[in-house]
Amino acid sequence: MKVLVLNGPNLNMLGKRPKEHYGSKTLAEINELIVKEAAGQLDLEFYQSNYEGDLVTKIQESLSYDAIIINPAAYTHTSVAIRDALEMFLGVKIEVHLSHVDDRDDFRKINFIREVCDVCFSGKLEVSYLDAINYLKK
Ligand code: DQA
Repeated sequence: MKVLVLNGPNLNMLGKRPKEHYGSKTLAEINELIVKEAAGQLDLEFYQSNYEGDLVTKIQESLSYDAIIINPAAYTHTSVAIRDALEMFLGVKIEVHLSHVDDRDDFRKINFIREVCDVCFSGKLEVSYLDAINYLKK
């Protein structure tokens, strides 16, 4: 199963972002945990960008994959473009967040991504990503 793990803006700065929301692991450390959790059962590709268009292009280039695990970060709350790109993707779509986005600022309750995804894992820091991996393994 070919899986794209896609991360949006500022997630390359994990480790330096507020720990009460995002924990202390870097993105590289989280990606290592994801690889271990997949235990060779998933064919993983990792991509991070701070640019909305890059994320859209990456989704377009991955339409033949079986699944996308996406943390769109701030674009969750603003991006019709990412929402529309995900809508074209016919595989499994999993929205992931480190923090519990629904219990934070009001502007984070606006979510363009949720309705085009199959499932969302949030609020468990890096474990949200591992829950996504286990969802795909099942
Ligand atoms: C985030 C939540 C978003 O609201 C925020 O803009 C992020 C990260 C999360 O993983 O908790 O950058 O997607």
